[in-house]
Amino acid sequence: MVSGTTKVVGVIGNPVEHSLSPVMFNAAFEAKKLDYVYVPFKVEKKDLSNAIKGAKAFGISGLNITIPHKQNVIKYLDKFDIMANLIGAVNTIDFSSGKSKGYNTDCVGAVQAIKEVSTVKNKNVVIIGAGGAARAIAFQLAIEGTNNIIIINRTAKKAKSLIYDIKTLLSSDFKNNSKLDDIKIDFSHINLEFDYGSLDKLPKTLANADILIDTSPVGMHPNINDKPLATADMMHSNLIVNDIVYNPIETSLIKEAKKANATPVTGIKMLLYQGAENFKIWTGKEAPLDVMEKSLLNFIQ
Ligand code: ATR
Repeated sequence: MVSGTTKVVGVIGNPVEHSLSPVMFNAAFEAKKLDYVYVPFKVEKKDLSNAIKGAKAFGISGLNITIPHKQNVIKYLDKFDIMANLIGAVNTIDFSSGKSKGYNTDCVGAVQAIKEVSTVKNKNVVIIGAGGAARAIAFQLAIEGTNNIIIINRTAKKAKSLIYDIKTLLSSDFKNNSKLDDIKIDFSHINLEFDYGSLDKLPKTLANADILIDTSPVGMHPNINDKPLATADMMHSNLIVNDIVYNPIETSLIKEAKKANATPVTGIKMLLYQGAENFKIWTGKEAPLDVMEKSLLNFIQ
């Protein structure tokens, strides 16, 4: 029940009507008997600066940031963590210190999803797509010791420039950035091979891959019958296949993975694990993963 002491967290974006986060977080707060409520806020691009100021003024404890604000919000924040800085996007803000601190938890959420079934250290990973999600995932894999990342994209030159960006940023000096207050990662130990290509290179690259992560929107509701970019004939039974699309849960790519006897990892897991990170940032407590996953599955199905 909402009372005079209830702490408010929420999501700002546009649209936010279809967000699954309110369902997932409110179930988690209830299960842990925490006096929090999670609310969706629709915010237009032109109002973003005022929204952040207003959130501080209202004493809001934390926010998730979604499309279209993940990049733009950075300039309105007091501090951010190293991953948000590297990726150039924030999906979580914590206001508990009186300052606004931005985090990127999409990256760790995506990789945690895969770690349910396998380590990512010393693996060969193929990422389809070269947008914001691919960028977040590639950075996280890099700091977790992945051996080799191949970025396959419809527009090969976007994959090339993403790789250039990652390499440059991983070798840059962060010590002089006053907005960064925690640099815990030792970048000198990152020893990673990168390659890129267009979609026609998929069959060859997948033959030698351990993990495939598809960050393209192909197969997303309502286009659920669109042919996936990777099909069963390109996969092998030791491959882990992760689709970051979670609506539907069983995408056409996940169906192909099952056909090939590969190990599927559905998009709902990324949502779940980034949510668990946010929960910890805001409340300081471990998230009730089972409750959160059940609430998501009940709501979608
Ligand atoms: P996000 O920021 O969420 O990762 P995005 O920037 O729109 O989303 O990136 C989606 C990726 O999926 C892009 O790399 C896009 O390829 P292009 O760079 O060629 O645009 C890729 N993508 C989108 N629709 C696709 C399709 N129908 N076939 C192949 N790739 C597609």
